[in-house]
Amino acid sequence: MRISEQEFELFCQYLEKACGILLAKHKQYLVESRLGKILQEGQFNNLGDLVRALNMPGNSSLKESVINAMTTNETLWFRDSHPYDILKNKLLPELAEQGRGQRLKIWSAACSTGQEPYSISMVLDEFKGENPGAFRMGEEITATDISTRVLDEARQAEYEMLALGRGLSKDRLQKFFQPGVDGSWTLNTNIKSRVRFRELNLLGNYIGIGPCDIVFCRNVLIYFSTERKREILRKIHQTLKPGGYLLLGASESIAELNDIYEMIHCRPGIIYKAK
Ligand SMILES: C[S@@+](CC[C@H](N)C(=O)[O-])C[C@H]1O[C@@H](n2cnc3c(N)ncnc32)[C@H](O)[C@@H]1O
Repeated sequence: MRISEQEFELFCQYLEKACGILLAKHKQYLVESRLGKILQEGQFNNLGDLVRALNMPGNSSLKESVINAMTTNETLWFRDSHPYDILKNKLLPELAEQGRGQRLKIWSAACSTGQEPYSISMVLDEFKGENPGAFRMGEEITATDISTRVLDEARQAEYEMLALGRGLSKDRLQKFFQPGVDGSWTLNTNIKSRVRFRELNLLGNYIGIGPCDIVFCRNVLIYFSTERKREILRKIHQTLKPGGYLLLGASESIAELNDIYEMIHCRPGIIYKAK
């Protein structure tokens, strides 16, 4: 597929408006490699024709395929490890102490294929094992993503050894998974059933999400403009209980929203507390 500069520009505008993702000029190869199949199957002559179809009302399955193709879903178990240490050693003890009589609510806001919310669920399971009686009113992890493809995979909760090898210890593999016949491993029901998956575009509304004790919004804001980041961080703030916590990716920040978030150094790791 050959893409003209103008077509690429029009596609970038469409993508930013649809899901916030900003594509740099040198990412033209990404569009070529990821959209080839969609163009062929839809019998579009070129990217310009595809953009015209995307900008028409309706066409929801085409729009969904393009989003599924253009999102980067790289993830792993217990990514960066310190967010999960902070969860276990600081946040859960604090919330277990404060929150008697209240249900614990955690949101994984760009969950990809499930490794993030399921890692959270494992930590919660371990914490509850060591602290019998904690969170007696129960707990709920809501996991959302814009990509329907990754959500389908996440709901399956079946992983190949290659994916499991990325961040999951042997102990946790043995403790939380059952081997299947085809070489994949299935997550145990108690870890899986704590997580509810839902399609959600971070550019849209967050109805039904809050009030949350903790929000993980990791490794997704990097794709957005500063303006979009601020807009999303403000909306996340509205879903957090006062004093609730926000955990971002290692290279992400609150984009100077110091009026609504307090930065807390956990050494290692930084988290944010809703003011
Ligand atoms: C790189 S993955 C990060 C996954 C996980 N949070 C982690 O840190 O390992 C980014 C995820 O953000 C999702 N995403 C991108 N744009 C989004 C949007 N506008 N709304 C919701 N999710 C989005 C992608 O589909 C992808 O699964």
